[in-house]
Amino acid sequence: MLKITDVDFKDQVVLLRTDYNVPIAKGIVTDDARIKASLETIRYIVNAGARQIIIISHFGRPEGRVVEEMRLTPVADKLSELLGVNVPKLDDCINIKIPNDRIVMLENLRFYPEEEGNDDFFARKLAANADIFVNDAFSVCHRDHSSVFQVPKLLPSCAGFQLIREIINLNLENISKPAIAVMGGAKVSTKIGLIGNMLKKVDIVLIGGAMMFTFLKAMGFEVGKSKYEADNVGIAKKLLEANKKRIVLPIDCVVSGKIEEGAASRNVSVDAIKKDDIGVDIGESTVRYYNQILDSAKTVIWNGPMGIIEIGSFAKGTEEIARHISDISAVTIVGGGETISVIDKLGIGDKFTFVSTAGGAALEFLEGKELPGLKALEESEKKFE
Ligand code: 3PG
Repeated sequence: MLKITDVDFKDQVVLLRTDYNVPIAKGIVTDDARIKASLETIRYIVNAGARQIIIISHFGRPEGRVVEEMRLTPVADKLSELLGVNVPKLDDCINIKIPNDRIVMLENLRFYPEEEGNDDFFARKLAANADIFVNDAFSVCHRDHSSVFQVPKLLPSCAGFQLIREIINLNLENISKPAIAVMGGAKVSTKIGLIGNMLKKVDIVLIGGAMMFTFLKAMGFEVGKSKYEADNVGIAKKLLEANKKRIVLPIDCVVSGKIEEGAASRNVSVDAIKKDDIGVDIGESTVRYYNQILDSAKTVIWNGPMGIIEIGSFAKGTEEIARHISDISAVTIVGGGETISVIDKLGIGDKFTFVSTAGGAALEFLEGKELPGLKALEESEKKFE
């Protein structure tokens, strides 16, 4: 695919797809990481002499109708503040007269069902005023939506700096070994593709999160009332048999009688879980054991929490692993929405080699799936050669 540095922007009108799906509370952006990640691309296009940048983005899931709280106005305010220039936000994204300002932002694309419907006519309207399309929204490239998948068929297109950073850092082809993946989260079913692909790229996969109980069940342990997937015990067993010693499971865990703040909990060995216990986190010995294994890594890829991070006392395992990964001298790559939120909470984002701005898209990319938005950019390069 073409990169932003391959294109001549002089006097061009540029349609720039960003992912400004950012947390907003009471009309204020509370996490501007995705907005900051797009600044390099915006500044580059301005400095390259473009006549105008028309920014497009989705926000939330308004399901094809106008939802007042989901307007992009707070995002345009934040972007104006970060750039130090006023970026007017228009009230619509199609059929609208665009003012002459150097940078403008259109309204939430998902106010139209055509966006998620991957509609080509909608894409024509988005592309109508532009000469070139720049996609800097890696985090939505797993969606075959109109602004991601159809627009590159209509305009010469290239990848922005943030999109390029994501695909370079999340590409596990030539990583330094030993490489260790830390995989957490609740469900084996949603992580199975990811674990499978990780086992092709890394030496060891450390398992945490509720999915550890599906694996422990597969090994014949009592898991009490812990959240495990009965339907996936068979798959977990096959994975364990096929990857002896490469899939590492916790040796102890934190159990409680209730999943609520302040509930009493105990640290138990995985062979001592009782019938009424609910597993809520990896245990103290597991944290030490995993950290020791991680010390040998040259590359660490981390996705998914080790326990129930919404409840402070059950977030300890995840936080300790996060801090440890941030301190080791390996290449450290982090992806996935919940994982990133832990790092943000701890304020240690700048201690990792790369923290993806993507949730679902990063997971699908790491799983080895083809992302529609990237495919569209590759095809656009061939079409407009
Ligand atoms: C994200 O936040 O991961 C992207 O903006 C995609 O959002 P979506 O899951 O609503 O498509």
